[in-house]
Amino acid sequence: MKVLGIETSCDETGIAIYDNKQGLLAEALYSQIELHADYGGVVPELASRDHVRRIIPLIDQVMKQAGCQPNDIDGIAYTSGPGLMGALMVGAAVGRSLAWTWKCPSVGVHHMEGHLLAPMLEENTPDFPFLALLVSGGHTLLVDVTGIGQYNIIGESLDDAVGEAFDKTAKMLGLGYPGGPIISELALSGHSGLYQFPRPMVNRPGLDMSFSGLKTFVLNTWAKSDKTEQTKANIAYAFQEAVVDTLAIKCQRALKETGHQRLVIAGGVSANTRLRARLNELAQKQSLEVFYPKHQFCTDNGAMIAYAGLQRLNAGEKDAEGFSTRPRWPLGELEIPGI
Ligand code: KG4
Ligand code: ZN
Repeated sequence: MKVLGIETSCDETGIAIYDNKQGLLAEALYSQIELHADYGGVVPELASRDHVRRIIPLIDQVMKQAGCQPNDIDGIAYTSGPGLMGALMVGAAVGRSLAWTWKCPSVGVHHMEGHLLAPMLEENTPDFPFLALLVSGGHTLLVDVTGIGQYNIIGESLDDAVGEAFDKTAKMLGLGYPGGPIISELALSGHSGLYQFPRPMVNRPGLDMSFSGLKTFVLNTWAKSDKTEQTKANIAYAFQEAVVDTLAIKCQRALKETGHQRLVIAGGVSANTRLRARLNELAQKQSLEVFYPKHQFCTDNGAMIAYAGLQRLNAGEKDAEGFSTRPRWPLGELEIPGI
């Protein structure tokens, strides 16, 4: 079974073809980072228009790369939420129209389910059940995962998502967009021991998190500082340590509570080298297994949507007639496919 995956929820047009026997056949991505860079964040209307420009040429490219004709495609999966309404509409409209023309089923995929299942694109895949830490620009979730569509959210950020905190911190320090990769690069030249940032909510019981206070801490620290480039790096370092430490503490607690032996980390922030190193350390100490997608599949991409869509189409799920996208869509509301 070959599934064409389409991701257009935010500022990346991602297209891929996944085959249940041969794995990933082809994928392509167009990132709009440059388009939004001047604005310091994603401008929704510009994002939708650019998806319109890129989507068909990218689908053509991926079909050629995979050596596929339309009748080789058994289903189409597109991100139907959560995300930017206009951007989602582009992927949904193209995905559903192609499915109608090519006479195959289509299915709308939850963007965070795509991220959650992205480690399944690797050679060494996690068996169910596992604990998932999903860290992206819009979500920070700890999920007890027992199977496809069986996602029990046991912890989440009560305010800013981790990726959002990286992006806002970078903006306050006058760095570019997106902030995550820039902060983590800058942190490499930062010195330890100069600033001590708080680890929010770690002294309270439970698995919820909060990252908006850290942002204010960055703002105050920067305002009172000598504003040199080295200070910027020192702040980036201290901020990243605080975030990574907080996530590691919450993961450790969640693993203890659930008894899971496997930890999956996915979403844009899972590309963070420091976070990976810290969670690898934790896994080693506690004899746990830890799984990440490869770097290109941490951030938004079409392959994770093709994979997640294939699982749902395989279980008999498909779009009914009509058309809808869900800009707001809690992951916990997903159902087990085929039921
Ligand atoms: O998953 P993603 O591509 O899009 C959403 O679903 O939101 O995640 C994007 C987020 C951005 O906030 C970006 O700053 C962050 O992931 N990010 C990183 C790194 N690479 C991307 N954060 C920290 N370290 C990184 N290396
Ligand atoms: Zn994403």
